[in-house]
Amino acid sequence: MMCQRPLLRWRSQVYQVRRWMTLVGGLLVWSAPSAETLDGQVDPPVKLTLQDDPAFQPQKYAKNVQEDPECNRDPLWGPFRQVLMAAEPENRIELAYEKTIEWGLENATIVDEQAKICIIGLITLQFLFARFLLTEVNSVEAAAHSFRLMDSQTGALHPDVFDKASGYGKIWPITADEVDSLRRGILKSSVGGGSGGPDRRRRFKNAFGLHDGDWNEVWGSWRPQGKPVGTVGPKGFGAAQAGAPKPSFRVYVYDPDEHPSLRKLARGAAFCKHNQWGMEVALHDWFLSCPCRTDNPDEADFFFVPHYTACLINHADTFTGCDTKQLCGPSTELFEQVLNNSRHYKRTDGGRDHLFVWGSGMGAEGAFASWRQWVPNAVFLMTETELWNPFDKVALPSFSPHKDIVVPGRITIEDMISLGKLARPLEERDFLGHFIGWPRPPHPSAMSKESCKDASCALNVRSVLLALKGNDSEMHVDVDVPYMESFLGLTSSLFCFVPRGKSAWSSRFFQTYFAGCIPVLLNDRYEPPFGEIVDIPSSTIKWPMTEVPALVSYLRTLRDEQPEIVYELQRAGQELKCWYAWPSSWVEWSWIELNRSKFNSTCSAWHVKNAYVAVTRLLAAKATSSRHRFYYPGASPEVLERPGALPL
Ligand SMILES: *[C@@H]1O[C@H](CO)[C@@H](O)[C@H](O)[C@H]1NC(C)=O
Ligand SMILES: *[C@@H]1O[C@H](CO)[C@@H](O)[C@H](O)[C@H]1NC(C)=O
Ligand SMILES: *[C@@H]1O[C@H](CO)[C@@H](O)[C@H](O)[C@H]1NC(C)=O
Ligand SMILES: *[C@@H]1O[C@H](CO)[C@@H](O)[C@H](O)[C@H]1NC(C)=O
Ligand SMILES: *[C@@H]1O[C@H](CO)[C@@H](O)[C@H](O)[C@H]1NC(C)=O
Repeated sequence: MMCQRPLLRWRSQVYQVRRWMTLVGGLLVWSAPSAETLDGQVDPPVKLTLQDDPAFQPQKYAKNVQEDPECNRDPLWGPFRQVLMAAEPENRIELAYEKTIEWGLENATIVDEQAKICIIGLITLQFLFARFLLTEVNSVEAAAHSFRLMDSQTGALHPDVFDKASGYGKIWPITADEVDSLRRGILKSSVGGGSGGPDRRRRFKNAFGLHDGDWNEVWGSWRPQGKPVGTVGPKGFGAAQAGAPKPSFRVYVYDPDEHPSLRKLARGAAFCKHNQWGMEVALHDWFLSCPCRTDNPDEADFFFVPHYTACLINHADTFTGCDTKQLCGPSTELFEQVLNNSRHYKRTDGGRDHLFVWGSGMGAEGAFASWRQWVPNAVFLMTETELWNPFDKVALPSFSPHKDIVVPGRITIEDMISLGKLARPLEERDFLGHFIGWPRPPHPSAMSKESCKDASCALNVRSVLLALKGNDSEMHVDVDVPYMESFLGLTSSLFCFVPRGKSAWSSRFFQTYFAGCIPVLLNDRYEPPFGEIVDIPSSTIKWPMTEVPALVSYLRTLRDEQPEIVYELQRAGQELKCWYAWPSSWVEWSWIELNRSKFNSTCSAWHVKNAYVAVTRLLAAKATSSRHRFYYPGASPEVLERPGALPL
């Protein structure tokens, strides 16, 4: 179970647990979501280590969920549960409504308090509500509102913990799969803001805040033969309605409700969206609520295969015997089943119109070990361009530069905002360079771990950086200190090192821009995302990783003799950073935070300048009508799915 998991490594823990940071009088104060904890605690002393971070203190509801899932200890929830379970399913919504009003559960403060007492009961009420509003009342907006109210509670529980607490529907009438299914239902219905014809549609935005005018720009940036963007005709075009700007492609999103194997791979959206691999969930959400979605696979240009395996495998025991140290057999088998059961997979060679998101350093390998047999031509939207140290036998990256799309890691809204607020003007920055993190050897295929342990080995670039500690007062380098030290370093240094870690990609690269620091990549085989649409070298330094000594003097000279170049690099980074944001959708609680948070002073055009839009533009260029193995007028499905005579 996730709860027994030892506390995490630096890399994966950064976004696994939610942090609430508030700025009070210029001091960073850690605070938990409820008022009673940690309020007033100021700046922890520097001697604390990462384990002392308040993000790792146990949550109150966790104990109740394990010890008393029926909530019998509470005089209200216990009896209510029995009445609810005894009622006919169609009568439950009335009971839920009654209690919601009686107990004041439309008030977020009260919801927060009740969550500590009976979290599953609370989620059940909101769920019944949201489902009723979507399926009976047909109000997407109202359903989204109810869904949002339970989002942070649902997100606190690993789906297996959730199902155990609800007794798979036998203790409380709810399962993790049903919650995921409802989430997808709301997102799908949110395209263009709901039904009611073109007039109504045009006044509304989809779940990510885009309206027709915005879509016009998104599709318009890719115009074959320079043609202007078309308008959808009376027959519609996927989920786009008549009169809407015509999407550049149509994507079919495999539905976990129809594929039991997929249901196991795409489980726990609310739980999995929080971490640094949260784009696995976010991109699924994006395509569900995109006018480019189609529910007719025969007209699709792409097939999106949703799954949250980076998240689920990082929580050991989701798939038996799998964690991040080995290739995962059970999930591999599930992917094979999904594809084997798909007619459409069989129409192209090597799955060339299939889209997969690979969120972690494990690349495609960890979750889908046999991908090279099944989908060597699929388009991967992935963070990792190189190799994952624990997979010592995997010496070939799963990233192929010419077919895949590199995507950024996910940073929380709070982090993006806080880093920006703390960011000091360049002329006030105390440090020349910053790095905080653990030392790492290179991948075993480059050199054995034993022969590259410390700073005497140039490929252990993190050790080389850490050796600068105490030797150069202008370097802010350290290991095993609370996050805050890292935040302070990022926001008070001119240059921030992004050295290779357990693999090539790292969230720190993206944080760096939001902190107003200039990233210095020491990571020869990492490629930053979206170089196709922005000029990366104008904002970023990429330096040979084995030449750190020369780097320090280079940076110092740059600062002292050509400050205008430093300013320009930083300015370009500020211009670019929002392409690396994954703002949350409407069905998430964080949408409220997003709206309240003045995120628009960090990214004023966040709904059209973000990582989703970048990915969508890059995909447009990959859609092709000639990808099927066979086509001719009158061809039967059997022919279309027939294997080619020649081997791949
Ligand atoms: C929500 O409940 C809290 C605590 O009971 C109360 O102080 C607050 O006024 C309520 N808010 C609304 C909008 O009713
Ligand atoms: C794929 O499906 C066929 C039958 O449809 C079955 O015979 C075969 O064993 C399946 N292969 C895998 C790898 O699941
Ligand atoms: C530390 O500083 C001394 C003197 O400036 C220099 O000779 C030495 O190489 C430095 N060590 C590192 C690890 O940079
Ligand atoms: C923010 O909230 C206001 C009021 O609730 C709403 O009208 C507006 O559309 C929201 N903005 C976004 C970007 O959702
Ligand atoms: C940003 O949000 C604030 C508060 O909601 C609003 O007043 C302002 O107009 C917004 N700015 C932009 C550029 O949307």
